[in-house]
Amino acid sequence: MPRGFFITFEGGEGAGKSTQIRLLAEHLRAEGREVVTTREPGGSPGAEAIRHVLLSGAAEPFGPTLEALLFAAARSDHVEQVIRPAMDRGAIVLCDRFVDSSRVYQGVTGGLEPDFMAALERVTVNGVMPDLTIMLDIDPEEGLRRAAERRGEETADRFEKETLDIHRRRREAFLEIAASEPRRCIVIDASSAAEEVAGQIAEAVSQVTSRAMAGDSEEADNV
Ligand code: TYD
Repeated sequence: MPRGFFITFEGGEGAGKSTQIRLLAEHLRAEGREVVTTREPGGSPGAEAIRHVLLSGAAEPFGPTLEALLFAAARSDHVEQVIRPAMDRGAIVLCDRFVDSSRVYQGVTGGLEPDFMAALERVTVNGVMPDLTIMLDIDPEEGLRRAAERRGEETADRFEKETLDIHRRRREAFLEIAASEPRRCIVIDASSAAEEVAGQIAEAVSQVTSRAMAGDSEEADNV
């Protein structure tokens, strides 16, 4: 039975995740691979409806626990409707944000219990975890500047509008996850030019996919 490859992109606002996903997808398609690009929250019709509720701030008054449940509900639908079927076909799935965003935004800066977050994550992903997570690291000041530039006249969303200090804590939290799961995660400096970042990502992806194809049997990180 074919099994695809699941790559997630994580990082703060304005790190360039969507640009890098587009460039990596072009690169992999040119090599003849089937590539599915998707995003969270969203990626399936049901999850896109929930995305609107979350990013408009409509769920904010109900508190971080309810928001975490909505992110989880969206993720579960996305996994079952899009990611798992694509993997079963042997496709490479590139996803803009996944579980690490929940761990960081709802868990760390939302102040939710690690045990609760871990249990919610297990139920939500139902065995579908990324083979590789690319953490695009950027100074939050620069990231927010880029995000504001991209947004133009539109107002900042529910999470973008938070203080610089919160964005700094998120950056640290992403780096801590990467340090604790070095086999799944790779940190890439996102401050350089997009083409340079794309080259580093393509190199990392080619190493990891060839390792996987060679049947590397080392055990995955303990989560
Ligand atoms: P999006 O417009 O996709 O932002 P970005 O370009 O930064 O990825 O908005 C997604 C927002 O939702 C972002 O601020 C991070 C937040 N988020 C969470 O808080 N928890 C999650 O589990 C996910 C997937 C996203």
